[in-house]
Amino acid sequence: MKFKTTPYHHDLLKDHDRLAVFYQAIQEYDSGTDLAYDLGCGSGVLSYFLSSKFKEIKSLEIDRKTFNCARENLADFDNVEVINSDVLDYNFTKKADLIVCEMLDTALVDEEEIPVLNHAKKFLKEDGIIIPQGVINTVELANIERDYVHWDEGVKYEILSDEVVYSELNFLQDINPEFKISLNLQAKKEGILNGLKITTYTKLTDDIIAGPLPMLNPPLLIPLEEKKIKVNEFINVEIKYIMGNGIESIETKYL
Ligand SMILES: C[S@@+](CC[C@H](N)C(=O)[O-])C[C@H]1O[C@@H](n2cnc3c(N)ncnc32)[C@H](O)[C@@H]1O
Repeated sequence: MKFKTTPYHHDLLKDHDRLAVFYQAIQEYDSGTDLAYDLGCGSGVLSYFLSSKFKEIKSLEIDRKTFNCARENLADFDNVEVINSDVLDYNFTKKADLIVCEMLDTALVDEEEIPVLNHAKKFLKEDGIIIPQGVINTVELANIERDYVHWDEGVKYEILSDEVVYSELNFLQDINPEFKISLNLQAKKEGILNGLKITTYTKLTDDIIAGPLPMLNPPLLIPLEEKKIKVNEFINVEIKYIMGNGIESIETKYL
């Protein structure tokens, strides 16, 4: 199928591994399942995957131009309704079997996945499912080249510790968007510590976990005050951010 898209959604469509994990997760449904919501439907590609499995799909998209593309792309599918609305303003009336919400980004800081799901999951049946199911976040001590928060899109850095899981989120639970944690991370190398690398793994289902992909959660590099560190030294750091409030909300400090 050919999709009409914006340049951003075209890049999302070109990331075939990203599409493959969502496709695989959706394939686990039987044809004829009742209702699915596709929140932040973009070009409509995930609604297209859902269309052979669900009797009814409601696909919400906040951006007018993107909504127009999705409406055109899905015009031949009688079971898909594309709606131009902010999920947070949408008046849900019916409980769904499945919510698909791909508003993902590393640590869920920059996009609205958590505020949107906290609102929408009241409209999920008791045995309903969310795709993705949740995320696993890890952190590493690093020496980075830039003094501002940025994504790992081919930039250079050196890792100075093992990778440590610092949070696991299950989207079926209510999640406080205000996140704060203190960690004691052990250096495995000596060097100049001036940053943290955060990596997010996406749990699509119990069996499908996606690591960072070009258009799905490239790792985040976050500056820290510069400090010389020795092998095996423990570094006590605090990480704080508000999920959905942007990378500007990230704060780090030594404790
Ligand atoms: C990462 S894109 C994913 C698009 C599509 N689901 C896909 O997988 O290709 C997220 C989409 O969510 C939309 N979005 C973000 N916040 C939203 C909100 N509060 N309500 C509805 N749509 C939203 C964006 O405009 C964007 O099109």
